[in-house]
Amino acid sequence: MSLFFILQSSLIATIYAAALNPTNIRPNTSPASPVDTSDPFTLSSFNPNTWLPQSLTNGASILGTLQAPTLPYFLDQNSNANNFPWGSRTAQNTNPYTQSPTTGQVRSYDFTIKRGTIAPDGYQKDVMLINGQFPGPTIEANWGDTIEVNVHNEVTGPEEGTALHWHGLLQKDTPWEDGVPAVEQCPIPPGKSLQYSFKADLYGTSWYHSHYSAQYAGGLFGPMIIYGPENVKYDIDLGPVLLTDYFHPQYYDLVENVMGTNPALFTPKSDNNLINGKMNYNCSLVTDGTPCQDNAGLSTFRFVPGKKHRLRLINAGAEALQYFSIDGHTLTVIANDFVPIQPYQTEIVTLGIGQRTDVIVEANGNVKESYWMRSTIASCSFTYQPDALAIVYYPQANYNSQPTSTAWNNTKTTCANDPLTSTTPYFPITPAPNPATTITLTIGSTINATGHKLWTMNGESYRGDYNAPVLLLANTGNDSYPYSPEWNVYNTGSNSSIRFIINNPTGAVHPMHLHGHNMFVLNEGVGTWDGTVVNPQNPQRRDVQVLQKQGYIVVQIDADNPGVWPFHCHIAWHVSAGLYINVMERPKDIRNYDIPQAWAQTCRDWAAFTGQDVVDQIDSGL
Ligand code: C2O
Repeated sequence: MSLFFILQSSLIATIYAAALNPTNIRPNTSPASPVDTSDPFTLSSFNPNTWLPQSLTNGASILGTLQAPTLPYFLDQNSNANNFPWGSRTAQNTNPYTQSPTTGQVRSYDFTIKRGTIAPDGYQKDVMLINGQFPGPTIEANWGDTIEVNVHNEVTGPEEGTALHWHGLLQKDTPWEDGVPAVEQCPIPPGKSLQYSFKADLYGTSWYHSHYSAQYAGGLFGPMIIYGPENVKYDIDLGPVLLTDYFHPQYYDLVENVMGTNPALFTPKSDNNLINGKMNYNCSLVTDGTPCQDNAGLSTFRFVPGKKHRLRLINAGAEALQYFSIDGHTLTVIANDFVPIQPYQTEIVTLGIGQRTDVIVEANGNVKESYWMRSTIASCSFTYQPDALAIVYYPQANYNSQPTSTAWNNTKTTCANDPLTSTTPYFPITPAPNPATTITLTIGSTINATGHKLWTMNGESYRGDYNAPVLLLANTGNDSYPYSPEWNVYNTGSNSSIRFIINNPTGAVHPMHLHGHNMFVLNEGVGTWDGTVVNPQNPQRRDVQVLQKQGYIVVQIDADNPGVWPFHCHIAWHVSAGLYINVMERPKDIRNYDIPQAWAQTCRDWAAFTGQDVVDQIDSGL
């Protein structure tokens, strides 16, 4: 690096950051040009030479750039590559729910949450950032490690409470660490911190996100990777690939509309679709004067010819069902959510909100080419711009021009997960054929007397109380709330297995997520359940299952995890409007938990904060 270069760089910090970043080989050094409103939104506008510096689009995150590191097979790998932190456990021989390791190793993270201004797709926006990053930092651990995250709420202008949820982890023996306000803790008030500490009890790909209102749609999410035994061999781990619908208005305004009385605003349309927090936008569509630049830049990946690449797909969006594909490359699916499955091949993977799919892609393309990676929002979702694009480069590709590849000629239009017949868990478990109890839930949607649209479960729309978390009440022996039917608590007592039949007579698709468990997915479809079970010896397990419109799902759990577990539609607007229940599992055992003092303190702090600043809880709270 020449001295001249260093001097130049130090003069303009953003350019320096960009120069370090090989995706911005020729950063745009001229002052921001006025928006070219004549530029149509066509592929020909994807010129990598004019991409904005990463610091302007994604703050301190390097995700989506060629600088982003590939991931290891596991952390602290020493010269003996077979010296696994999880010992002799394999994906095949180990029941992850009863035999997870405890390594004693602690992985510590410090997260500061603050507002900031960035332009992920070129449209300038105030978002919430974690350590200055959008998406948030990647959490990494080995299976059996302890993850510690010290969360500092420095949200101001305006202040907001927050809480982080570690999606998909079981939190066995630590249900209070699950991070859901009004259920498992009080929100962390502005100016305060809370240290979470929990075991990485499952392995694979997941994410964390704020569970406070629809705050994660304002930026508060990031990937969470837990290294564990391989079920299918691969060479290179390209890491997380976050697929997120993206909204230009503030999440708070969107929720106000969703919870308001104007039916035209009940289903906000996303403005764009991002891969690892990046995409271009046609700025000529901006009419309110918000600064916007075309060619913000796309996420980029490298393929090594002949090698098998693992990609960890995560739908971390607010609303949209996504179809993911890479032109000219088939995908081998190896895991759904935290559950390794028998591999199968497909051209397109469907992910509802909250779902993850790990795929292996063999780099058998042309070494001189680059290829489009695509994620497309399904027609059952609401968007102005359904297509997210990223670029996969082979080593001899021209990095200064866009791919010319064409999409798979596959007209997937159904809003459903792949058939349960093709998703067989690697470690087989047979659920109880006759569960101890069955709960039938029917989803409804109503416009109430005052013109507000609410989602209901068996006729009741959920609304939580941030000052009265149900788990903390149950811990003190108070496990019945006749005065608060809107808390939607289903007490399953000491039943050893619980089946849920969920009917969805509505015209909307609902990605249903249960905390604290991997659900056996016994069946799903349109219409009503006929009583049959798919793969009864070893049904698919996962933590989110797409419930089709005018359809049903039948799921079952072993009640091996005392706690109060959220069971909800993961569409941010739907949970805001009440599509949510609490499953209270083994309340007698909940009394035995020794919940850390910090949880009571957070409630005292929250009470003090809300005493001075009345929190305008515009939605269910979640
Ligand atoms: Cu991703 Cu209730 O969670």
